[in-house]
Amino acid sequence: MTTLLLATCNQGKKREIENFLKAGLVNIRLLSFADMNITAEVSETGATFAENARLKADYYSQLTGLGTLGDDSGLEVIALDGRPGVLSARYAGEGANDDARIQKLLAAMQGIVDRRARFVSAVCISRNGSALATFSGQVEGEIIFAKRGEGGFGYDPLFFYPPLGKTFAELTLEEKNRISHRALALEQLKKFLLHGGLAL
Ligand code: IMP
Repeated sequence: MTTLLLATCNQGKKREIENFLKAGLVNIRLLSFADMNITAEVSETGATFAENARLKADYYSQLTGLGTLGDDSGLEVIALDGRPGVLSARYAGEGANDDARIQKLLAAMQGIVDRRARFVSAVCISRNGSALATFSGQVEGEIIFAKRGEGGFGYDPLFFYPPLGKTFAELTLEEKNRISHRALALEQLKKFLLHGGLAL
């Protein structure tokens, strides 16, 4: 049994990653920050999702001595030149909640006809402060004009996914985990782990 630390305090991401990896990797035990009593935070100073995922994975793997999975993700809106991008979590300022971020995005998109957007996720696996591999995934959709759905987290209620005719907040966890940006990145990570990439 291999133990892996999941380096996120975002409950929405944690739920999705646990659900995804537990379904495909029976020999992995996932620990969370709470399991390890970790309160230290790392500054997300990277210019890309991949850099930030790596900063998190490197930092917490060094801190704990455990193989560590870091995730960084966010929303890129084409008409806003890719914003909120790596600042997705801080779009409405530190300490703001999902609803404040959603209202800010709706205001920024007022009058904009081109509603195309994508979610991007990068996941990095590190050991002893050094990255072993980074994977990324993205999914295309459209920003709608008002929230729809109660599931998911973050910008999900505004992100309409044409192939299913629903927002991400209208999908079940299992449905989102079949098509999301995070699932596409995790699928590659799963293959890496199944082929002995962590080699503990
Ligand atoms: P971070 O990766 O913890 O820096 O934050 C990512 C932020 O991007 C979250 O707080 C959400 O606002 C947003 N985000 C990332 N992935 C998703 C997703 O799957 N659905 C909705 N919002 C997301």
